Amino acid sequence: MNKTIFCLTVLLLSTMPVLGREQKEYDSDLIYDESKVPHYDLPPVLVTAEGKPVTTAEQWRTIRRPQILSLFSHLVYGCVPEPESPINMQFRIVKTDPQFMGGQATRKDVQIRFSNDKGRAEMLVLVFVPNSATQPVPAFVKHSFNNTKSQDFDTHPQQAGRLRNGWPLGEFFDRGYGFVAVYQQDLVGHNEVEFLNGIHRLFYRTGQSLPKAYEWGCLSAVAWGAMRAMDYLETDADIDHTRVVIMGHSKMGKAALWTAAQDERFAMAISAQSGCGGAALWRRKTGETLEKLVTRFPYWLCRNAWKFVNQEDDLPVDQHMLLACIAPRPVYVHSGVADTWADARGEYLSAYHASEVYRLLGKTGLTSESSPPVGEAIIRSDVGYHIREGGHSIETYDWQRFLDFADYHFKN
Ligand code: GCU
Repeated sequence: MNKTIFCLTVLLLSTMPVLGREQKEYDSDLIYDESKVPHYDLPPVLVTAEGKPVTTAEQWRTIRRPQILSLFSHLVYGCVPEPESPINMQFRIVKTDPQFMGGQATRKDVQIRFSNDKGRAEMLVLVFVPNSATQPVPAFVKHSFNNTKSQDFDTHPQQAGRLRNGWPLGEFFDRGYGFVAVYQQDLVGHNEVEFLNGIHRLFYRTGQSLPKAYEWGCLSAVAWGAMRAMDYLETDADIDHTRVVIMGHSKMGKAALWTAAQDERFAMAISAQSGCGGAALWRRKTGETLEKLVTRFPYWLCRNAWKFVNQEDDLPVDQHMLLACIAPRPVYVHSGVADTWADARGEYLSAYHASEVYRLLGKTGLTSESSPPVGEAIIRSDVGYHIREGGHSIETYDWQRFLDFADYHFKN
C-alpha cells in the first residue's frame, strides 16, 4: 500500500464513530462469550529461551527477566535505539503555585527539554505536592490523556474541592501523596504514523524516516517520557522517589505496565482497564484483538507486532510475562464488568499467571484462577486486583482502591 493511502486509511479507521466501547458495529466478528475463547497454551514464564527451568530469584533476575524484556522490546512495543548524537536533557521549573486548590498543595510546572544535532523536543510535567507534608512524599505518576499545558489542571475557585477532573486530588493530598501528570502527546502523536515531529527524529540515523520494525512505536515513546519524568523526580526534594507509582487508564494503562516493566525505579504499577496490549492476554483473542489494535492504531506497538496478527500462538510472550517483569514490585490490575473491549477476564488471568514469579521472589500473588466477586478488591497481596460494575473509566471507587493498595505497601 502506498504511504499516503495507508495514512488516510489509518486516519479513517481511527476516527470512526465509537458506538460505545462494548460492542462496536465493525467488530461484530469479535469474541465476547467465554465459551468461544479458543484453546491456548501460555508460553511458560519460568523456563528460559534455552528450555531450562528457572528455579531461583537469581536466575529470574539475570537470565529470564532480561530475555522476556528483550522479546517485548523487539517484538511488541519496540526498542529505543541508541541516538547517533548524544541527547542533552534539561529540567526547568517554569512556574510554581503554592496556593493550588486553595492552598492544599503546591503545583510545579516542570519543563524537560531534549536536544541534539537532529532536533528538539519538550515535555511539560506537572508535580503537585501536599502543603501539609513535612518530609518527601510518595507520589502517583499518571500517564495522562489530558494536556498538561491545558486548563484541565488549573484551579478554578468553584472547583477547588475534592474532585478535580475525575482525579480526587484532595484525597491524594489528605493521604499524603503527591500527584504527577505526564502528557502522552508531548513526545509523540496519539496515533502517529510518520514520526517526523516528535522525539523519534532525535534518534533517527542519517537517512532514516520511519522506525525500523523492531524500533519504538507510540507506547514505547510514552513510556520513555515517563522515565525522563522519573529522572526529574529523582532531583526533586519534595518527592520520595523510592515510592513512586506509575499508573494509567486504557492506552495509558498499557504504557504504565511497559514503563514499570522496564524501569525498576518505579516502585509500583497500576493498570486501569489497559486491555489489549496491556494486561489482557493476547491468546484469548477476546474483545479487542491484536488485529483490531494494529489496524486502527498501527504504531502504538512496533511493526514486528503486526506479524503476529492471527498468529498469536507464535508470540514467544504473552502479557502475563509483562506483569511478571514488574515483580517483586507490587502491581495492581483494575477491570470493569461492562468493559468487554478490554477483556476483563484476560486482564485477571494475566495477573494470576504472573503471580508465580512473585511467589518465586518471596512475594504474594493471586492464588485463585477464578476472578474475585465484583466489587471485592484484593489489596493485601503484591498482585492486587478488582473488578467493579460499569464500563470504561476510573471512578472514585477505583481511585480509592489504588490509594488503599499504595497505603498497604508503602505505609506498612
Ligand atoms: C481504543 C483502543 C484501546 C484503548 C482505548 C483507550 O478503544 O482500541 O486499546 O485502550 O482506545 O485508550 O481509551
